[in-house]
Amino acid sequence: MLKTHNCGELRPAQAGEEVTLAGWVNRRRDHGGLVFLDLRDRSGLVQVVANPKTAPEAHATAQQVRSEYVVQVKGLVRSRPEGLENPDIPTGEIEVVAQELVVLNPAKTPPFYIYDDSPVDEAVRLRYRYLDLRRPRMQRNMMLRHRVVTAIRSFLDARGFIEIETPILFKTTPEGARDYLVPSRLHPGEFYALPQSPQQLKQLLMVAGYERYFQIARCFRDEDQRGDRQPEFTQLDLEMSFVEREDVMTLTEELMIHLVEDVADRTLLQNPFPRLTYQEAMSKYGTDRPDLRFGMTLIDVSDLVAGCGFRVFRDTVAGGGVVKGIRVPSCAAYSRRETDELIAMARGEGAGGLAWLSVGQDGAIRSSFAKFLADEDITALVGRMAGEAGDLLLFVADKASVTNRTLGALRLVLGERLGLRGGEALACCWVIDFPLFEWDEERQRWDPSHHQFTSPRVEDLPLLDTDPGAARGQQYDLVCNGAAPAGGSIRIHRRDVQEKIFDLIGLDRDVAQERFGHLLRAFEYGTPPHGGIAPGIDRLVMLLAGEPNIREVIAFPKTQQAADLMAGAPSPVEPEQLEELHIRIVEET
Ligand code: AMO
Ligand code: AMP
Repeated sequence: MLKTHNCGELRPAQAGEEVTLAGWVNRRRDHGGLVFLDLRDRSGLVQVVANPKTAPEAHATAQQVRSEYVVQVKGLVRSRPEGLENPDIPTGEIEVVAQELVVLNPAKTPPFYIYDDSPVDEAVRLRYRYLDLRRPRMQRNMMLRHRVVTAIRSFLDARGFIEIETPILFKTTPEGARDYLVPSRLHPGEFYALPQSPQQLKQLLMVAGYERYFQIARCFRDEDQRGDRQPEFTQLDLEMSFVEREDVMTLTEELMIHLVEDVADRTLLQNPFPRLTYQEAMSKYGTDRPDLRFGMTLIDVSDLVAGCGFRVFRDTVAGGGVVKGIRVPSCAAYSRRETDELIAMARGEGAGGLAWLSVGQDGAIRSSFAKFLADEDITALVGRMAGEAGDLLLFVADKASVTNRTLGALRLVLGERLGLRGGEALACCWVIDFPLFEWDEERQRWDPSHHQFTSPRVEDLPLLDTDPGAARGQQYDLVCNGAAPAGGSIRIHRRDVQEKIFDLIGLDRDVAQERFGHLLRAFEYGTPPHGGIAPGIDRLVMLLAGEPNIREVIAFPKTQQAADLMAGAPSPVEPEQLEELHIRIVEET
């Protein structure tokens, strides 16, 4: 080794020892006489002093080096003189007095500062990712990610899971996105599809009798990128045999609690995690991914206003719609401009409008609609909403889906504004009993809400023939702080049920056979009941690190345009390569 110690690990206990260190020059300060170098390696920083009197050669070299030079230092550890300690760094009580200093490699001036996390344009960060990865924030995130994955492996190993790799070159494994295709040289005109998840393969491993499988699996989805999506990402993919929904949820919950509390050293607001049905989540929070860090729930007032003097409310209830409200604390003094802005947001979500009522500090009511209501109706409405002095009450009247969506969106915006969505703590919950299907208006057919392998709830099986829209699936989503880091389900393990689902989603028998024949065939050879889940590792680490964006926890992520700015991928290939693959590029005209 070119070094005997790590920079960041030296302590007063080593005072008097001779050490050899190697790393990067974080910063250099030339005090005329003494030159100070902050030397950095992965473990942290230590101060090196070069004295022209005791080590003239090392001092001369120290004068030459610049930030990010790679150097090797041989020197003596000593306690810093009293009053010169630096309490901001773990090695702040000592320094290393250089005896020899060797430049192992000089460095160009980097395009941004490495030694702190001052903001830098993301495109520049991504182009020079290897430098960005040297910075403290990325180092913290990469190390957290490593600890999370290591903890997952030992947690599952201790519970009898085995890790099995599955192919990347495979056949379409749809999870609702477009496939990435890989042309085959040996089979002209034929393609592999990169897996959107190992879904079918993990089910086949259950058929194969492995009972408890997991994999840190790379998945590929060609879909529009967002802050929490990447074209390739990593799942903790797991599957278990002979289990019910509760078993998978309990195991996942234990793992989550371990990762949050022991690995990331953060707190959970609720433990155990609350369970909400899809219906409850939609009606109380207006979304199937509720942020439970704060209240401000949606309250139904339809019965109170069904006969009131305000036409919008009355007509909506008469027409089968609902009127619901949220109570926003401390916003009673909102100006006209501020309420207009909320109304515009409500319209943007598809609502016809937004009705508001504020309770002033003196109890005085201001409102866009109270003039149409009798006093006792106002009192009843404010009472139902538990409105207090200082509150702004917001109401939407529309069909249930629009009302929920609109108030759900306003709840998030206002919760953010009121500072209720920040902080260290995580609020996790389970959402269960999702509808098995969503109706696709455009294509006039049922779409699976999760994927086509999710089992209906047993008691809802007859509904597949009579009222598929009412059938609930054995799906469970883990929701944290309003994001959904994991989803899974108990699977269909019978060929007849699987075929019925294919029929309902309009998948032609022949097409189903061509695409999933291997799975259907396998189901005939003794398939155990099974189920699983797949937490997205990137999204999980993003939550645990408190990062706003998935790219901050991926070493080499892609941009919103699915490009790698550092390597310049994707890129054109040689004509000979295309020829071998029997591929011709069609120029756009
Ligand atoms: P699902 O499609 O819900 O389920 O994906 C599971 C989890 O994977 C993560 N994820 C993503 N992360 C980053 N970028 C993306 N583009 C992306 N897409 C998904 C999310 C999500 O919760 N096979 C099923 C799981 C199962 O049923 O066991 C599946 O893939 O965190
Ligand atoms: P209008 O009758 O359109 O003048 O609206 C009277 C008040 O009702 C205004 O404050 C509107 O923003 C509000 N409003 C209109 N449509 C709705 C709706 N669907 N839900 C809630 N409030 C509404």
